[in-house]
Amino acid sequence: MTSIKSLLAESPYLTSIPASYIFRNNNIDPNDSALLTEPELKIPIIDFSLLTSGDPNQRSKVISELGEACENWGFFMVINHSVPERLIDAVIDGCKGFFDLAEEEKLEFKGKHVLDPIRYGTSFNASVDKVFYWRDFLKVFVHPQFHFPNKPSGFSELALEFCKKIRQVVKGILGGISEGLGLERDYIYKSLNLESGLQVFAANLYPPCPQPELAMGMPPHSDHGVLTLLIQNGICGLQIQHNGKWVNVNAIPNSFLVNTCDQLEIFSNGKYKSVVHRAVVNNNATRISLAIANGPSLDTVVSPASELVENRPPAYIGLKYKEYLELQQSRNLNGKCMLDCVRL
Ligand code: SIN
Ligand code: FE2
Repeated sequence: MTSIKSLLAESPYLTSIPASYIFRNNNIDPNDSALLTEPELKIPIIDFSLLTSGDPNQRSKVISELGEACENWGFFMVINHSVPERLIDAVIDGCKGFFDLAEEEKLEFKGKHVLDPIRYGTSFNASVDKVFYWRDFLKVFVHPQFHFPNKPSGFSELALEFCKKIRQVVKGILGGISEGLGLERDYIYKSLNLESGLQVFAANLYPPCPQPELAMGMPPHSDHGVLTLLIQNGICGLQIQHNGKWVNVNAIPNSFLVNTCDQLEIFSNGKYKSVVHRAVVNNNATRISLAIANGPSLDTVVSPASELVENRPPAYIGLKYKEYLELQQSRNLNGKCMLDCVRL
C-alpha cells in the first residue's frame, strides 16, 4: 500500500500522476455542461434549532422542509446544529495531525476487513478496485464500542465528544424525518436500533493532485448507513447526483452536509433515495473531509417499514446490516449501487 502522502513525499515535484491513478470515464471536466454548481441550485438548508425549539408551528414547518429535502435531493445542509465550532475545528485539526504522522506510525492501524474497527488506508476498496484513488483515509468504529487510534495525543478524546454530539443531532433529524413520514418521532430510531447503532468516523485526506482532471478522490457511491454527516476543512470537492447531473456542493461554513443513505431508502420503501456522490480533487489545496456515518446496529434486519408498504408492495429484500456491509465489500460494484442487489 502506498498512501498518497508517501507517494508525494517520495516525489515532491511530481507533474503527472502514475497510470494506476488514472480514472477513466470520470467525466470531471469543470466545463462539462452536465456539471452544475451550487448555490444556483440551492441545496436545501435545514435549521436544526427549529426542530428542537419547542414551537410546534416552527417544528412542523421544518419537518415538511426536511421531508421535501429527503424526497427531492437526499442531501441537505444543517445549520444551527448546536455542535460547537471550536470542537469541529479541533476534530479537523486532529485528522490533519493523524495524517501528518510518520507512515510507519499510521501503518500500525492498517486494517483489511470492512468490519475491522480501525482502518488506515488508501484507495476505496483495495481488495476489488483496480484503480487507485487520490485519497488516504482513516475509518474507525466509534459506536456502540468506541475504538480509536491513540495518536496524535488528545485526538481520541475530542473524537469521542464529537461523535456523541453527532448522535444527538442524528436523533433529532431522524425524529423529524419519522414525523414527516407520518410515523412516531422515535419510530426510525427505535426500529433501526440506532441506540446501539454502528457509527463510523471516516476521515479523508485529498492532497493536491498534479492532474486533477485524470484522478478521482472517491468514486461514485452511495452510503450504506442511515444518515451521514459530513464536514470539511473549507475546501470543496464533493459532487452529488441530482436529476441526472453532477452538482458541486459548496457547504455553508459551520454547517453539516447530511445525506440519506441506503438503509433509509430501504426502510422508506424507496420514498427517500440514497444519492450517489463522489469526491473530486484539485491541484492547489489539501482537502480534509470527515464523514460520520450513522447506521443501524449490525444485527438489525432492515426491510421496508410495514406502515410504508400499505399502498406499495415492498421494493427491497430485508437483510441484516452486517450482511449488507459484507456483501458490498465482497463485490466490485463498479459504480453501481449495492442497493441494486437488494431491490425486488
Ligand atoms: C464521502 O462520500 O464519504 C466523502 C466525500 C467527500 O470527501 O466529500
Ligand atoms: Fe459517501
